[in-house]
Amino acid sequence: MKLAIVNGPNLNLLGKREPEIYGSNSFEDYFKVLKNKYSDIELFYFQSNIEGELIDKLHEFGYNFDGIILNAAAYTHTSIGIGDAVKAIETPVIEVHISNVHSRENFRHTSYIAANAKGVIFGFGLKSYDLAIQSFL
Ligand code: DQA
Repeated sequence: MKLAIVNGPNLNLLGKREPEIYGSNSFEDYFKVLKNKYSDIELFYFQSNIEGELIDKLHEFGYNFDGIILNAAAYTHTSIGIGDAVKAIETPVIEVHISNVHSRENFRHTSYIAANAKGVIFGFGLKSYDLAIQSFL
């Protein structure tokens, strides 16, 4: 089983950024926890603040991975390009969010990804990623 976690803009600041919403752990530390917990899964991680780089990675992972766990962050709510990439590729994508986007501002209620995702998990903190991995088992 080969899974990729793809994180979008500002998620490189997890741990420092608005900790009351996103918690105080860095993603790198949490990724180590996931790697230990799921040591029999080949788990990859990529983060970028650049929309085109995220699309390139979806194309790269989208034909030879068993699943992609995508937190496109703010691009979720704006990017037709990322939505189209999710639709184009063969690998199933789970959309995840750390926060409960539906309890926040209205602009966070729109997703250009959800319609083409296998499923959506949000609001469980970093555990949203763990739940997404479990959905592939
Ligand atoms: C987020 C929610 C988005 O609305 C926001 O722009 C983010 C993070 C989340 O994981 O809760 O950057 O995707």
